[in-house]
Amino acid sequence: MPAVIHSLEELRGILDTWRNAGETVALVPTMGSLHQGHKALVQEATSQADRCVVSIFVNPLQFGAGEGFDEYPRSLVADEAFLADTLVDVVFAPSAEVMYPEGPGAAPTLSAGEVGDSFEGSSRPGHFDGVLTVVKRLFDYVHPDVAVFGCKDAQQVFVVREMVNQRALPIHIVEVDTVRDADGLALSSRNTHLSEAERVHAREIPRALDEAEKTPSASEALRVARSILDAAPGLVVDYVEMVDPETFRPPADTAGIREGRLIIAATAGTVRLIDNRLLRFGQ
Ligand code: PAF
Repeated sequence: MPAVIHSLEELRGILDTWRNAGETVALVPTMGSLHQGHKALVQEATSQADRCVVSIFVNPLQFGAGEGFDEYPRSLVADEAFLADTLVDVVFAPSAEVMYPEGPGAAPTLSAGEVGDSFEGSSRPGHFDGVLTVVKRLFDYVHPDVAVFGCKDAQQVFVVREMVNQRALPIHIVEVDTVRDADGLALSSRNTHLSEAERVHAREIPRALDEAEKTPSASEALRVARSILDAAPGLVVDYVEMVDPETFRPPADTAGIREGRLIIAATAGTVRLIDNRLLRFGQ
């Protein structure tokens, strides 16, 4: 069973012991409500470092008004039990006061720049600034050698990587493939809010990715994915785009590219769903 700690003093004490023993540390930042997708992150983290810290903190800075911060499920006891059969050493579950002693509103916010304002950031203004602010603070507290994130949030991984590169932080960012349910839907804490009918509609998202993957070119992949999603009953599509994995921007000329990430966001009922896949063409 991992030790569950809430204070910075406890965290620093444990980290000092590990560091003095020459051990490396991996961090898996989460907002709790853990599922098999998180377990895949944890398995990767524990394979990459001697010690593993999972942080659980529902970060107010990354929720806009009406985005469900208050309703976000908090389930520390269940999360702790969920990690019992893993090699996680510590669950760091700080309060808002520990995370933001100056008050969340007064914490200096990092900027995720232009990419942070596109796609998810365009529909959720300030979201990635809030993500970067909490991730940087967790990095400052834990000083991990490795930090592990899920590919489902591809734009999040991109902005975190950019921050690490721009600041030359000595942290290896590792991405873990999206874990899917048997019906193809990417695992997400939000899936529990889908009704049976909405779940059927939501399956069109992984189907669009599957069908796009069968096409010979990026422009055809985009066309196929868009036509499936536009025709899907019960889905309100926010975006279906192909981005260059190096820049997270649409390429100047989609037609000839050999690699692109197809990114999708759509709403089923009240549940916003995102998914993506890295596609390769003409190889
Ligand atoms: O992906 C998440 O769960 C959150 O955005 C993260 C990285 C834990 C920051 O709050």
